[in-house]
Amino acid sequence: MERRPLVAANLKMNDLPEGALEEDSPFRERGNADVIAIPTFLDIDKCIGKYIITGAQYGGRFDVAEGAYTGDISMQMLYDRRVRYVLCGHSERRELHNESNDNVIEQAVAVLKHNMHPIICVGENSEQRKTGKEKDVVSEQLAGFPFNSVSYTVAYEPIWAIGEKALRAATPEEAEEMHAYIRSLLDEEHRAVTRILYGGSVKPNDEAGKMIRQPNIDGFLVGGCSLQLDKFKGILDIVNEATGE
Ligand code: PGA
Repeated sequence: MERRPLVAANLKMNDLPEGALEEDSPFRERGNADVIAIPTFLDIDKCIGKYIITGAQYGGRFDVAEGAYTGDISMQMLYDRRVRYVLCGHSERRELHNESNDNVIEQAVAVLKHNMHPIICVGENSEQRKTGKEKDVVSEQLAGFPFNSVSYTVAYEPIWAIGEKALRAATPEEAEEMHAYIRSLLDEEHRAVTRILYGGSVKPNDEAGKMIRQPNIDGFLVGGCSLQLDKFKGILDIVNEATGE
């Protein structure tokens, strides 16, 4: 496989699960996949202190290092604390914090400017899928992103497959079709090397095994199962097994 898989734990607004910082924590695993933890801001230092590769769930999009921006955390602050990945435009932030497509792209560009790695989240809602608009929605979400940037990751997370309200996970075929489409949007230089993750009800089951064997699915963004370390470890085992073939 040209691309090393990446499995990211999106802990959302939850404390670190018990054992997350221990020696045998799956967040510290160094197998065939890169593993990163994306905790709340409060737990970032703790993870980094244990040599866990750590991401932030959001970074202030204003291009300033500090100042009168109540509630924001600047990209510079994240970088200084050795955060290396930043999620941009998770659907929960788009919906609950009114982050527009433009805001999200601005954020991703700010991440790059600070020598970090954006994980740009895209995905349609169930209505948009029902009416066949999913590809248009995703291409609009990515419009304006400089695809020729150094390195970045895209996460496809159909809203209808995410979290407690999920109707179901996408099938491997549905996900692969969208991932291949997203890859077609990238510039030639980055097409073969950029990782595109699937997120939405990923669990340690046969479906995950089928997903990771699809040519354009390069790993997972895991929500719920990242709070149960045995399940997260199960997902890593599935990815490691597929990668070792
Ligand atoms: P889920 O969340 O795995 O709980 O569906 C994924 C995400 O929102 O990143």
